[in-house]
Amino acid sequence: MAASGFCFYFLVFLVAFGASLEATNGQLSTEFYKSTCPKALSIVQEGVAAAIKNETRMGASLLRLHFHDCFVNGCDGSVLLDDTANFVGEKTAIPNNNSARGFNVVDDIKAKLEESCPGVVSCADLLAIAARDSTVYLGGPSWKVRLGRRDSTNASKAAADASIPPPTSNLSAIISSFAAQGLSSKDMVALVGAHTIGLARCTSFRDHIYNDTDIDKSFAKSLRQICPKTGNDSVLADLDLKTPFSFDKLYYTNLLKKKGLLHSDQEFFSGGSTDQMVNTFAKNTSLFFKDFRKSIVKMGNIKPLTGSAGQIRINCRRVN
Ligand code: HEM
Ligand SMILES: *[C@@H]1O[C@H](CO)[C@@H](O)[C@H](O)[C@H]1NC(C)=O
Ligand SMILES: *[C@@H]1O[C@H](CO)[C@@H](O)[C@H](O)[C@H]1NC(C)=O
Ligand SMILES: *[C@@H]1O[C@H](CO)[C@@H](O)[C@H](O)[C@H]1NC(C)=O
Ligand SMILES: *[C@@H]1O[C@H](CO)[C@@H](O)[C@H](O)[C@H]1NC(C)=O
Ligand SMILES: *[C@@H]1O[C@H](CO)[C@@H](O)[C@H](O)[C@H]1NC(C)=O
Ligand SMILES: *[C@@H]1O[C@H](CO)[C@@H](O)[C@H](O)[C@H]1NC(C)=O
Ligand SMILES: *[C@@H]1O[C@H](CO)[C@@H](O)[C@H](O)[C@H]1NC(C)=O
Repeated sequence: MAASGFCFYFLVFLVAFGASLEATNGQLSTEFYKSTCPKALSIVQEGVAAAIKNETRMGASLLRLHFHDCFVNGCDGSVLLDDTANFVGEKTAIPNNNSARGFNVVDDIKAKLEESCPGVVSCADLLAIAARDSTVYLGGPSWKVRLGRRDSTNASKAAADASIPPPTSNLSAIISSFAAQGLSSKDMVALVGAHTIGLARCTSFRDHIYNDTDIDKSFAKSLRQICPKTGNDSVLADLDLKTPFSFDKLYYTNLLKKKGLLHSDQEFFSGGSTDQMVNTFAKNTSLFFKDFRKSIVKMGNIKPLTGSAGQIRINCRRVN
């Protein structure tokens, strides 16, 4: 009796311990603002919905901001900092300059959070929640966002240039840049499925449509109509032709037909080690959604500032 009682309590302990590990993965917790800012999640969700209603592309832009935040010294809101006399921020780094967007939407949402619970919700968490809400709004998977990240007091243009892979990268270079963040090839292929939404500039896909051979000829030809060899740098094309604002698996289907927009996109289906993953995602939406969910939570856990590290910025653009 005593022994079985012990077993019972030990089991309860194991279950409770397992559950708490789940909830605090990477020191973050899904309940972080439950008592300190109960409206945090709904404020962000409403702000994201309003912004996407106004401009559909904003969902893509917000999802990308979370990625560009997390890859540079962890998910710490650093991408949102404007330049100061003390540092050059990340906004003019090559992957962001004339490309990263959504900063005004972030400011508007942050102002509403500050009205409701001053100094409580970090900019890094705002980006993580907005990435989830954008994905859901456009028809993608949902997940519980782990929270409790704090904001950096510094940013680094050089780190952004070094950590975010450019669209000219080959497969092994992209694998390395994800591995440097603790993300596997499978995480990488699932996460880049985010290119099922949003747009890219001529300057990002020019080399691919003029110089590469692993591209469908008529697809390349139609893109050359809007993206000349020189000029029209900012003309936009859909990352996922036909359904650029619907979070679906057609990005992968395009790759099977050699209709990836960026050189880097087509690298994932070019006879290399990730072909099979692309094939599998192209066939199975629920598998893509399941893996995307798992990998974006993992990405959101990259080196968060917790405890008393960093600060809760009042204005996401500057240090308090
Ligand atoms: C695998 C490496 C990746 C490369 C090389 C890459 C590169 C790019 C480039 C060049 C653009 C277009 C930028 C422009 O021309 O202005 C873009 C857009 C975008 N990227 Fe990626 N990306 C990668 C991975 C990811 C990941 C992991 C996510 C999110 C989880 C993501 C989300 C997006 C979104 C949503 C857009 C469209 C943004 C908009 O329309 O405002 N990308 N990416
Ligand atoms: C709505 O979107 C347009 C771009 O399409 C932008 O110029 C404008 O600032 C947005 N308005 C609000 C309230 O976000
Ligand atoms: C910001 O970080 C850079 C290196 O990443 C460092 O040289 C600089 O001193 C830091 N600036 C501040 C204000 O902390
Ligand atoms: C960012 O883009 C602007 C406008 O095109 C350009 O003038 C500036 O040189 C670019 N900055 C960097 C650091 O490349
Ligand atoms: C991939 O790109 C990296 C960095 O640009 C380069 O060092 C490497 O040789 C390339 N690998 C292949 C297989 O082309
Ligand atoms: C294509 O390749 C040629 C030769 O390597 C190079 O000069 C050019 O800059 C590349 N890009 C485009 C858009 O032609
Ligand atoms: C520049 O882009 C526009 C579409 O935005 C297109 O109509 C025009 O033909 C392009 N110019 C060139 C020289 O390709
Ligand atoms: C699709 O993926 C789901 C989730 O992993 C799996 O349960 C299902 O069996 C897969 N369907 C097919 C047809 O392979």
